[in-house]
Amino acid sequence: MCGIVGYIGDKNATPILIEGLRRLEYRGYDSAGVAVYNSGEVQVEKYKGRLSILEDKLKEKPILGSLGIGHTRWATHGEPSDVNSHPQTSMGGDVAIVHNGIIENFMHLKEWLSEKGYVFKSDTDTEVVAHLVDYFYHGDLVQAVIECVKKLEGSFALGVVSCTEPDKLVAIRKDSPLIVGIGKGENFIASDIPAILNHTKQIYLLNDMEIAVLSKEGVSIVDQAGKPVQKEIFEVTWDVAAAEKGGYPHFMLKEMFEQPTSLRQTLKSRLMSESDDIVLDQIRISREDLEKVDKINIVACGTAFHAGVVGKYLIEKLARIPVEAEIASEFRYRDPILSQNSLVIVISQSGETADTLAAMREAKRKGARIIAITNVVGSTVSREADDLLYTWAGPEIAVASTKAYTTQLIAMSLIALKLARIKGSIDGELYGQMKEAIYRLPEQVQQILEESEGIKELAEKHKDAGNVFFIGRSLDYAVAMEGSLKLKEISYVHSEAYAAGELKHGTIALIEDGTLVFALATQDRLFDKSVSNMKEVKARGAYVIALAKEGNREVEKTADRVIYIPDTLDLLTPVLTVVPLQLFAYYMAVARGCDVDKPRNLAKSVTVE
Ligand code: AGP
Repeated sequence: MCGIVGYIGDKNATPILIEGLRRLEYRGYDSAGVAVYNSGEVQVEKYKGRLSILEDKLKEKPILGSLGIGHTRWATHGEPSDVNSHPQTSMGGDVAIVHNGIIENFMHLKEWLSEKGYVFKSDTDTEVVAHLVDYFYHGDLVQAVIECVKKLEGSFALGVVSCTEPDKLVAIRKDSPLIVGIGKGENFIASDIPAILNHTKQIYLLNDMEIAVLSKEGVSIVDQAGKPVQKEIFEVTWDVAAAEKGGYPHFMLKEMFEQPTSLRQTLKSRLMSESDDIVLDQIRISREDLEKVDKINIVACGTAFHAGVVGKYLIEKLARIPVEAEIASEFRYRDPILSQNSLVIVISQSGETADTLAAMREAKRKGARIIAITNVVGSTVSREADDLLYTWAGPEIAVASTKAYTTQLIAMSLIALKLARIKGSIDGELYGQMKEAIYRLPEQVQQILEESEGIKELAEKHKDAGNVFFIGRSLDYAVAMEGSLKLKEISYVHSEAYAAGELKHGTIALIEDGTLVFALATQDRLFDKSVSNMKEVKARGAYVIALAKEGNREVEKTADRVIYIPDTLDLLTPVLTVVPLQLFAYYMAVARGCDVDKPRNLAKSVTVE
């Protein structure tokens, strides 16, 4: 998704903006630009394509100046082109704007401004913002921004500079992330922490409609009435190294190999061997509250949704409460039946996904209690939820989510255990077994990662597969969905996840000689049924790669290849089964020459609807 960086200080702004944008590249973009104040005017350079194109142009014609804004754009309104790239400027070029989000009423505003004589150069919704700031400017930039945003409907994170007030950088957000970095004699804005982490670890997390006014000496935050807002400084605890590749060729590979550490982090001080309790101190639901809950809804998008599907099985099995797992973009518009007795679990790595946020707000509006699982400290989801569980996976940069998913699975199992304990629906024996098995997961993931060479060979062998199926039952089906998404998003191979028992009702018609099928068979009680499904596809010519628990050699009689995962309880297999599938997707993408960390058409954080 789009990225924003802004700088004000004494240094040359352009390299700082470019470096910041480089760190936001992972979010996905199709054009990039900067606006820098220099000798009485705001100079803009912006181009369609990779950041390196902008960089090369800036080498040819450098812009010197110590106030500037930069942007990577992921097109929504208007095709990717130089003219539609940001920054967008006012008619006379006095004001320059960078914008993330969508201005929903921009057509109406465009007509209104056109009637007043404003001429538009681009097809973007953002250009109306530049013209509006210009229209409302009567000698006070902050006031002009305040008046401008009163007219806007939709979501926005804005960075605004003007040649009439070159000692200022103004920023505001609504439903789109924006942070302020506090430096010494210099200050920053950014849409995400890694962009400015090289310069400062002290951050203000802006709330909706708070206006940040940055000068080189300091930052003031005001509300819409212009009154000062007192904000606490948020101290970032991780460093630049955590947001860099550390010798790995891709962030995705690094993040997959970080999983044992991330899982330990998620568990740390929550499930302790010496105590009998699960410490989730930001989840404060009481037995009394839980007794009133008649149903739980889990809402999320993409990979986070797949973690939610696993969560459904876990909670239903352990806490015996009915659970529905649903995609946020559907949930938000279907007028869900919720009340004060509803519990909604929202899962979002970034904590900024537009559909997930809207679904959460809709559930809140209807009185539901919200538990959020998120990775990003201080994200919007974390701030608006009633109860919270951070996954503490560390920064996830690759678009394809891996360590976020496995830590979300652990988070879900902790919540399921906690709810089961509060409700009294789990006996001591199963609780003890779960606890012990959860502890072993990080080292078991490590074991699978150590076998990655075998998966690499397999991926290279099948790199030309045109169609891949992932089948499984129960929790294996939930993981099949994630395996299929991983393959699609980074290797662009068409794949489908199917409930193995449902295949024969139509989809099996697509299986032909050589079709690659991953058959997940890790659920002990469903093992025979899963083997029967393998036989069905084998009989139609499929090449079957089975995933089974170690020691379950029976499967070798049917499958062409078997990937074994270490033995664990059925309920916890997803954390292990997904790892070979992540590795397979990764090596397949590499073998096909795909840009693994920046897959086409995709963005890391989907902050628009
Ligand atoms: C996963 O690999 C994705 N690229 C995507 O599906 C992602 O999980 C989804 O957009 C939700 O993001 P979130 O967890 O930040 O809300």
